[in-house]
Amino acid sequence: MAFDYPGKNRAYEAALQRTKECLSNGDVENGTLYLDKAITLSAELAANAAIPEFQARFKKENAQLLKIKGMLGKGENPFRKKATVSNGDGAKGGDGKAQKPEEGENVSGFFSTEIPTTTLADVAGLEEVKEQIRINVLLPLKDPEVFYNYKKDAGARIIMYGPPGCGKSFVAEAIAGELKCHYAVITSDQILDKYVGVASKRIKAVFDEAEKYDNVLLFFDEIDALCASRDSDDSAHTKDILTTFLTCMSGFKPKDKSLKVIIGATNRPWAIDSALVRGQRLDTAIYVRLPDRKAREFFVKKEWEKFANIYEGSDLTMDYAIDALDGFSGADIKTILDQAKTKTLTRVLQDNLPKGQYYKVSKADFDSALAAHHNPVTAEMLLRYEAFGKGMTE
Ligand SMILES: Nc1ncnc2c1ncn2[C@@H]1O[C@H](COP(=O)(O)OP(=O)(O)OP(=O)(O)O)[C@@H](O)[C@H]1O
Ligand SMILES: [Mg+2]
Repeated sequence: MAFDYPGKNRAYEAALQRTKECLSNGDVENGTLYLDKAITLSAELAANAAIPEFQARFKKENAQLLKIKGMLGKGENPFRKKATVSNGDGAKGGDGKAQKPEEGENVSGFFSTEIPTTTLADVAGLEEVKEQIRINVLLPLKDPEVFYNYKKDAGARIIMYGPPGCGKSFVAEAIAGELKCHYAVITSDQILDKYVGVASKRIKAVFDEAEKYDNVLLFFDEIDALCASRDSDDSAHTKDILTTFLTCMSGFKPKDKSLKVIIGATNRPWAIDSALVRGQRLDTAIYVRLPDRKAREFFVKKEWEKFANIYEGSDLTMDYAIDALDGFSGADIKTILDQAKTKTLTRVLQDNLPKGQYYKVSKADFDSALAAHHNPVTAEMLLRYEAFGKGMTE
């Protein structure tokens, strides 16, 4: 039987988690049982993972776990929390703000356990974006020597901006798929917290976790919420988060020709603190724009090919749909095509058609779905992105 990588990996992560829980509570007996399980599973994963990078990671973790086992044998427990004064509900920090009771930040869940299968070939249009990504991200990994000769690190830092639903997250996933590397999606709501200091701690934990991997891509979604401009929000809380983020980012460097990629994404690039987009930080800004005609053709063709029987012979032509969808994002195009199909299906059900008989998706179904769809992307928004892009290049 084939090696069940996802299943084993889940079991391993669970054993690891339970080990940490038990040991940090001082329950060495059960902690040791889970630790033994994690040691066995990490050895199996190291021997059987299909990707050499994963094999190396599990081997490294296996060695670390064996080290912990040795420490426990000597009566040392590296997870035992140092005694902390309980803050309680009404506790205040030095600046008078509420502090969250001490706890470890477990961020391993942000990291994918599997390599994404999406690649740039799945991305509709965005040819300029793909080209920039090839130069800034993919080439360095393919031939790191060339970059090292020029004293450049094979670590890419880019920020993608543009209207919602145009593929920023999708492209980030495709990059991880192309690089066949570990991938973490970190959204601002997973990091931000009402308690002072927690967000910074989480950011540090993410970068610490990322250090475990040789080749890794960190994708910070809604980065404007994390690195808000100090002009608009100069609270100590916001500054603390930004400083931590910038510090962690500058320490996150490729070693021994490994790849460390950081990608940020935002719908509001103007709301980001300028320190984030200066040289050596997220210095390559890429505009992920609305789909052009070629990109819209990609979506429509794919739909027609997938559901040929409900489109062939209809009065709705591909050309008509491609033109009519001008101004909509990829996500909206998908929704409109889906809504048109729902309208056709509703007619089939209402008319109680005999089994095996069906209507084609008509031009009227499509038009009605299109008319009912509210386009969240406005002309004003697009002008603002264009102006921002111009400002970046001036
Ligand atoms: N250019 C594209 N190529 C292929 N699929 C796309 C493209 N743009 C959007 N999509 C589809 O729309 C979905 C939503 O896109 P995605 O989440 O990547 O947009 P986004 O730019 O990150 O939006 P947001 O700003 O709201 O986070 C994707 O999962 C994908 O299915
Ligand atoms: Mg997104």
